[in-house]
Amino acid sequence: MPDSMNVLLTGGTGFLGEYLLANLLERGHSVWAHYRSESRKLDTVRLLSSMGLPRSAGSLKWFKGNILEADEQWERWCSEYPGLEDVDTLLHSAASTRLHMDEKGEPLKTNLGSTITFRKLIDRKPLKVHVVSTAYVCGLIQGDLVKESNHPRGDFVNVYEESKWEAEQIWNGAATILRPSIIVGHSETGRCTSFSGWYILFQAAHLLDRLMSDSKDLDRLGLNIDIPANPDGVSNVIPVDYVAKATVRIIEKPENHNKIYHLTHPKPPTHEWTLTHVCNRFKVGGLRFAGAGAPFTQPRNRVERMVWRQMQTILLHFANNPVFDRSNTNLVIGDITVPPITADYVDKIIDYAIEKDWGQSLD
Ligand SMILES: NC(=O)c1ccc[n+]([C@@H]2O[C@H](COP(=O)([O-])OP(=O)(O)OC[C@H]3O[C@@H](n4cnc5c(N)ncnc54)[C@H](OP(=O)(O)O)[C@@H]3O)[C@@H](O)[C@H]2O)c1
Repeated sequence: MPDSMNVLLTGGTGFLGEYLLANLLERGHSVWAHYRSESRKLDTVRLLSSMGLPRSAGSLKWFKGNILEADEQWERWCSEYPGLEDVDTLLHSAASTRLHMDEKGEPLKTNLGSTITFRKLIDRKPLKVHVVSTAYVCGLIQGDLVKESNHPRGDFVNVYEESKWEAEQIWNGAATILRPSIIVGHSETGRCTSFSGWYILFQAAHLLDRLMSDSKDLDRLGLNIDIPANPDGVSNVIPVDYVAKATVRIIEKPENHNKIYHLTHPKPPTHEWTLTHVCNRFKVGGLRFAGAGAPFTQPRNRVERMVWRQMQTILLHFANNPVFDRSNTNLVIGDITVPPITADYVDKIIDYAIEKDWGQSLD
């Protein structure tokens, strides 16, 4: 077993963060978990307890504070939370995952603000730093191989990707960069708390299914919608449990530090495979990929119009088709199996999402 780490974890109540926390505890590390909301903390405590893991005391301690002021507030936090000063590792997973800028300045405010303040803090309080970024810091790519290296500024699909790229530049080699692709539900339970990305396609098909059930006169198998994307492109989705396990195993070994790792799927499903599966599952048909740049067919009725609008919102997911190199990741954790994306798995995550009403009824 590697040496035990004493970790300051940010974002520990988030979708990925909960599994990072669970993995750290399972592997015998001590964690100071930052949190903002009592109810989110309670949800995390419940998850840990369902896994038979410690909920507080001993190896897990919780602390509150504005992480955007980590540098200014550090001494005050340390006097308020005795023992916090002994952390030796920062695992920074907190982020705003908003894709586009809101009136409060998110996602830039959190994603850049937290990076700047922690970067300053480590000049005074040396810590081994590991940062959860995203594989999509590469920007828009058509089929090219994306290396585990620092990228030049890309053609970003949204402000979120740009904010994560900017954050990587601030660390500039002083942190381990973990780059997951699109994180989806747990490979065994399907559990998920953040139903964006791939889930939007499933949710659209589910809505369509319900809508068509109420309109018996519509031809659900003959929707006649052309989607302007390449059928052979892939959605690089990766189960949350793999990302958490891979992250903890990578950062445990000092020789792995300060490098870049793609936590991406080596065999991601093609858009065609995904669409066929989803159409079969929800008994709809007539949706086709017409190739990148093809025009959308004009909707003939209100159902087609709804599908058309929904498809436009997720088109950017289909439009970006990078192939992620995993050389660094394979070298250090090649022995950890990446759960395959099978029809059963996709059904499991859809079932879970429907049970949770696409995030409207999370426990
Ligand atoms: N989900 C994906 O598909 C995906 C893909 C690639 C990379 N990532 C990266 O993975 C990491 C985790 O993402 P996730 O999907 O787990 O997102 P998430 O469920 O939204 O969790 C984000 C976490 O960050 C915390 N947070 C947000 N703003 C904060 C602030 N201003 N101060 C303190 N804490 C703040 C949230 O706290 P609360 O619990 O209090 O809200 C939450 O714990 C992020 O760095 C994200 O960029 C995610």
